[in-house]
Amino acid sequence: MGNKNKKTHFGYQEVNEADKSKYVGEVFTSVAKNYDIMNDAMSFGMHRLWKKILVELAAVGEKDVILDIASGTGDIAKLISKEYPNTKIFMSDINYEMLDEGRNRAIDESFNSNCSFCQLSGESLPFKDSSFDLITVGFGLRNFTDKQKGLSEMKRCLSKNARLLVLEFSKPINPMFSRFYDWYSFNILPKLGSILANDSESYKYLAESIRMHPDQESLKKMILQSGFKECKFFNILNGVVAIHIAYND
Ligand SMILES: C[S@@+](CC[C@H](N)C(=O)[O-])C[C@H]1O[C@@H](n2cnc3c(N)ncnc32)[C@H](O)[C@@H]1O
Repeated sequence: MGNKNKKTHFGYQEVNEADKSKYVGEVFTSVAKNYDIMNDAMSFGMHRLWKKILVELAAVGEKDVILDIASGTGDIAKLISKEYPNTKIFMSDINYEMLDEGRNRAIDESFNSNCSFCQLSGESLPFKDSSFDLITVGFGLRNFTDKQKGLSEMKRCLSKNARLLVLEFSKPINPMFSRFYDWYSFNILPKLGSILANDSESYKYLAESIRMHPDQESLKKMILQSGFKECKFFNILNGVVAIHIAYND
């Protein structure tokens, strides 16, 4: 995947496009077993609320066919499945270990009855045009090699007037808060990773990949460039996190 000579970023490192998904894969294979504990520890449990807000904003229809991209351990799919049991949800992830954690959890926590599981890249979706009423991506887009290509694929797979919701780390608005957040990200996060998951490097990547991700307005432009007719975003926690909602034409 990706052009052999073209460069992109893996955190702060410049790497060949063709190699990025391998490096990202190594990070998530390494964190898969401790992913949920680390998420709670790093965000003080706030990621649960952010995902609930995403589901609220998604205005899910009772019988929607939904693709959750970069599902990981399935937090978003679980919320939708429990609240809207008659929807059909495709949980998907590029990484086998993460998807396997998600599938096991879906079975253990009984939200598998309306879920299917697909290992796939969000940059090349193996679905026909207009297959879905709703696509969600939680903390996944940041890791894509070609985000624009991924967004165009999402647009192609959505039916008329369907919605895309992207939950992702973004850029804090207040400069003072931003300095505190940088200190937390580069000093505390890798230490937490080291203590709780014996893996500081993956959490260093997390902090760096967040800084390299487009800010709120830039991501909105990219979404509109991929052909969506309308896009708005909501900042949460001073813009540490943003939810973009886009509507298909
Ligand atoms: C930070 S986790 C997010 C998991 C879950 N959505 C959540 O919010 O807790 C990011 C996930 O994105 C997946 N991922 C990375 N690149 C991807 C791609 N190109 N296509 C699909 N999934 C990808 C990773 O394997 C990982 O499971």
